[in-house]
Amino acid sequence: MNAAQAAGLRCPVCGGGLGIWGRALRCAKNHSFDMAREGYVNLLPIQKRHAADPGDGKAMVAARRTFLQSGAYDPFRRALGELCLQAGYKTPNIVDAGCGEGSYDRTVVDTLTAAGAEPRLIGFDLSKLAVRLAAKLVPEGAFAVGGSFCAPVADGWADILLNVFSPFAAAEFSRMLRPGGWLIYAVPTPRHLFGLKQVLYDQPYENPAIRTEYPGFVPAGERTVTDTITLDNAMAQALFAMTPYYFNTPPEGADRLAACPGLTTEIGFRFLLYRRAE
Ligand SMILES: C[S@@+](CC[C@H](N)C(=O)[O-])C[C@H]1O[C@@H](n2cnc3c(N)ncnc32)[C@H](O)[C@@H]1O
Ligand SMILES: [Zn+2]
Repeated sequence: MNAAQAAGLRCPVCGGGLGIWGRALRCAKNHSFDMAREGYVNLLPIQKRHAADPGDGKAMVAARRTFLQSGAYDPFRRALGELCLQAGYKTPNIVDAGCGEGSYDRTVVDTLTAAGAEPRLIGFDLSKLAVRLAAKLVPEGAFAVGGSFCAPVADGWADILLNVFSPFAAAEFSRMLRPGGWLIYAVPTPRHLFGLKQVLYDQPYENPAIRTEYPGFVPAGERTVTDTITLDNAMAQALFAMTPYYFNTPPEGADRLAACPGLTTEIGFRFLLYRRAE
């Protein structure tokens, strides 16, 4: 983590700015947060650290890492990198809210850097396990354990804010973005993972259309990316284990998937673009 990134973070106790002091971040009121060996820092407010739901657990995070590194979602990763590039900044400050294990951040940083830009990236997630993996995968980034509804990022720091399949916190997103900054919000298309759901459920449903208007944000376009992927049994299991379906599928459905030699499914992301109102 460098000083410019630390300046984008904020103290979860008093909301003040943070600076680097040796292996810790500290605010003017002397609230201090140790950096882990992997370089990330825990900025979850004390009262939230022991909450019942500290984000995705170990098996889900591991499955997501395995699946995302397989290349199956590379069209989505590439599109996200291109959209960040199209925002047109030479030195963008980027925040990934609910960053997970960091595979998207790796692609975003690589895409921008290859095009001659110098991104400064902060990623945060409720899951410490995910943040630890992200910090290792993207050492150029600054990563924090933190929640979207009490985000550890300074007011107006972000030029671009990413939200890929993570909780949407409109007020905090607006606070973190500078006026005119870009929000890139990835949501599933109606047919995303329909082939997987056809195996898991007797009556699969399409995903509902996501509401697309938020106060304080001006819609600025949309890009839809779709594909059809074929997975072997192991990768189909990894996909299943990284989705919420893992927790609400009847045992017969999970057994059917386990017995499949492979899986072919439609996939699709809608990247919804917004500018923060000036
Ligand atoms: C479906 S995963 C997406 C992760 C990553 N963006 C990706 O697409 O690979 C949702 C993530 O949101 C995190 N999460 C859940 N609630 C959160 C919150 N309130 N604030 C921040 N992250 C949260 C989970 O720990 C998990 O990593
Ligand atoms: Zn403080």
